[in-house]
Amino acid sequence: MVKRIAKSISGALVIAFCIVLSGCGLTQHNNSMNAVDQPEYAYLALTPPMGWNSWNIFAKDINEVNIKAAADAMVASGMRDAGYEYLVLDDAWMAPKRDENGALQADPVKFPKGMKDIGDYIHSKGLKFGIYEDRAYRTCQSLPGSFGHEQIDMATFAAWGVDYIKMDSCSAEHNGRLSSEDYAIYRRYIEETGRAMVLSISDFGNAAWVWGGKESSQLWRTGWDIQPWMDSVYACGDCSGGSHRSHPAFNGLWQFAGPGYWNDPDMLQVGNIRIEDDKVRESANKAHFGLWCILAAPLMAGNDLPNMTDTVRDILTAPEVIAVNQDPRGVQGYKVFVNDKLEVYNKPLADGTTAVLLLNKGREEADITVTWEMIGLSGRQPVRDLWERKNLGIFEDSFAAKALGEHGNMMLKIGRKGKPLPTAAPVPFEKYTITRQGVTSLSDLYYAWKNYNAPVYNTTFEGNPIIIDGKIFEKGFGCKSKAAFMFAGTERGDRLMGMVALDESYQGENEGRFRIFHEDYFGNRVLWDSGKMTKDSPAKEFDIELEGYNGLMLTFDGRNVETGKQANDVLGVFADPRVIAND
Ligand code: GLA
Repeated sequence: MVKRIAKSISGALVIAFCIVLSGCGLTQHNNSMNAVDQPEYAYLALTPPMGWNSWNIFAKDINEVNIKAAADAMVASGMRDAGYEYLVLDDAWMAPKRDENGALQADPVKFPKGMKDIGDYIHSKGLKFGIYEDRAYRTCQSLPGSFGHEQIDMATFAAWGVDYIKMDSCSAEHNGRLSSEDYAIYRRYIEETGRAMVLSISDFGNAAWVWGGKESSQLWRTGWDIQPWMDSVYACGDCSGGSHRSHPAFNGLWQFAGPGYWNDPDMLQVGNIRIEDDKVRESANKAHFGLWCILAAPLMAGNDLPNMTDTVRDILTAPEVIAVNQDPRGVQGYKVFVNDKLEVYNKPLADGTTAVLLLNKGREEADITVTWEMIGLSGRQPVRDLWERKNLGIFEDSFAAKALGEHGNMMLKIGRKGKPLPTAAPVPFEKYTITRQGVTSLSDLYYAWKNYNAPVYNTTFEGNPIIIDGKIFEKGFGCKSKAAFMFAGTERGDRLMGMVALDESYQGENEGRFRIFHEDYFGNRVLWDSGKMTKDSPAKEFDIELEGYNGLMLTFDGRNVETGKQANDVLGVFADPRVIAND
């Protein structure tokens, strides 16, 4: 039996969002990523970059033949004319060794005529040339990385006519440099070449929006590697548009993107999605593409271009859906309604209308309603279906999509042209960044990045008071098994103080380790390490001098004492972690 769920819009979640978003879009604010004050390279990607990347379809098996065929197909299929401009060669284009001058060279078997030849071919098709490297001594496929060769590699790329560099992070924890330092080096050497090259941060979503990725790049990954199935697509989507990677108060990472800098939930799997049923697969491909468009995500296709079906081509080239992604206002869409698997996203556009995605992530057929209240409109409003390119009529107060099946979705444009609609209110800077003179309790701030289990604020993970040696702490974090979370800094702060212990309710034998890092894991800059602690270990205090930091990461790691493997049951507490700024 098909269960039909008529979705009410007055649910608690909407109300929660209204509070979080200060009026569900009723407040006007200036996008802090205003393009006007940006350095010149910010103008390289005033709208999300569009192109095709070899990894999702070919992995290591790229060569002159299939890359040139992809270039041909980008033109013949209409992809280029629809806006896809970069053709990016991912990992495994390079020879296992550098040449006698230390320069990178093409794999002689795969690319016998070299990379300049490939670049020239790509350019001759009216496309731009993108290339992959890794900031460590080797790439994810164990080929030569750029570490120690940053200057010569950027110069080599410029000489080959490269326009776009995807800079990966496998093994970067051995570099001895913070991620912010690493990427700044590439930016400097790119500028030194005098060639305009986009820099794409590929780091599995390790907080570039917190530590300043926009100082050096135009896009940064927000999550792990995307796979050709919808659980992975939705998980990646939620790294940018949900709470997978940030405190729920942010309602996704929308406030960290804008003209010049983009959150990248990874490359598209449209055309690769493994679903047998043709209709469901088509809905899934549209759901994936629509989600990336509403999230103002970079659109890097990753399918087999010469052999794609007409249906996949029509999805990838849908002009009015792409226009939402490429809207010059550059607002990343955000959720305005969630009820289990049913979601509504809103993306106010430059022309005064707004784009809305109604998405059924579940398997059961459902209706989804968007009310004008959710999107800052009222009264009678025109609604257009952007997939069908058809006006649906004038609707009063709301629009309901009926009987959306598995992955069913509608992409709509609602409202009339005119003054741009307000966006939701962003979380104020001082609510997630250490800005104050005096004492700032970290648990008074929202973490702006997290991985694994989210910490619980001001109680243990299980909701009990934080107690160490009989003393109750009003502030702090409760953690379970594995947690990592980061607060943004402004270099303000002289000391970080607090205390850690395993939760007193934890009676198991496993151990937990607390560490505090400057910035993300890749920098490996450990400011403090509790060492392994068990339930019998006395609490440990930390009192760390801080010197110029732009991200403080707190981590908790529970391990089985005997096997050394992750232990799921260990509970730990950070008690009263606070930053003291003297002036
Ligand atoms: C990492 C990246 C992928 C891809 C591979 C190549 O996993 O996240 O996008 O570039 O490396 O080895």
